[in-house]
Amino acid sequence: MTLPFAAAEVASQPLATAFALPAHFYSGEAVAKLEQSAVFKRHWQLVCHVSELADEGDYVVATLGILPVILIRTGAGLRGFHNVCRHRAGPLAECSGKSLRQLRCRYHGWTYNLDGSLRAATEMKDAQDFDIAGIRLPELIVREFEGLVFAAAESPPPFEDYVEGIAARLAQAGHRLADLRLHRHLHYDLDCNWKNYLDNYLEGYHVPHVHPALNQLLDYRNYAIDVAAWHSVQHSPLDGAAGPYGSGEALYYFLYPNSMLNITDGRLQANRVLPLANNRCRIEFDFYYADNGDAEALARRQRDLDFSDTVQAEDARICLDVQRGLDSGSYTAGRLNPLRENAVHHFQERLREDYRRALAE
Ligand code: FES
Ligand SMILES: [Fe+2]
Repeated sequence: MTLPFAAAEVASQPLATAFALPAHFYSGEAVAKLEQSAVFKRHWQLVCHVSELADEGDYVVATLGILPVILIRTGAGLRGFHNVCRHRAGPLAECSGKSLRQLRCRYHGWTYNLDGSLRAATEMKDAQDFDIAGIRLPELIVREFEGLVFAAAESPPPFEDYVEGIAARLAQAGHRLADLRLHRHLHYDLDCNWKNYLDNYLEGYHVPHVHPALNQLLDYRNYAIDVAAWHSVQHSPLDGAAGPYGSGEALYYFLYPNSMLNITDGRLQANRVLPLANNRCRIEFDFYYADNGDAEALARRQRDLDFSDTVQAEDARICLDVQRGLDSGSYTAGRLNPLRENAVHHFQERLREDYRRALAE
């Protein structure tokens, strides 16, 4: 296979001399296609909160990159499978639900047990050498962490390395994500490359320029970013006790390649960015709260949702403008700010590593 970039373009770059990824990584189908196998298939991705899979038979339909998947609470624990029938690729479930006893394909009715094995294939008695026992749904690797469910399609890095240091930091700050419950799920589709959205997420450098209201709540001078092997965390003291987040500290975790955990006291806003095409992505938002749901708490949640929508609209607008710049032919790759863009650098270093592995293979 000819790869859509040269080895020199994906060499590791020290932070102090780093450039951003070249523009052509953000457009064209070849890079997007390669990322499905080189990035999305091989890494952990956030799927849902464990409370969404609390009872036996609960199931959640999601996507890892472009791979449709289903996670199920079975009698043998949490399991995940490709949501793609082995007959002719039909869907086994179209939306999340409860009380699942078996999986039945929507297309021609083949049924699967909750261990992924094919149970019955409708009207297939004339098919020669057709062995039901040899057919099963490919299984995912699933892990639970701090009340969150992560899954990977194949050979991801060790999960302990993936989340190293996060539990200790959450405990120190008094965050108990496992106690939170889902309040609202929503998504935004944007006409930009998925990495463009993440580059923007991964720096607070733009906050004073793009988010005037958010900038009032955060303490930009004390906004700092730590990076670890597989995650980065942006953190800022909160200034506005009157704002939707109260006081304390905001933590913005990014877990490579596409999961985000935005944490303030008693509240988690989890995001996933999913590539829909080379120039289109979906950002999923799940809002979780510890609040008891009284009128005051509900009003606070609504303020949070409204404010989040404003911030998202500001980010969407700049991402679309940046995508136009990237696609314009005017830009190649600019220098990164080591103080403010170290998490962008971290993300792009992880990408370059995956691109290098694709070259080597
Ligand atoms: S595609 Fe599933 S039964 Fe035909
Ligand atoms: Fe932003």
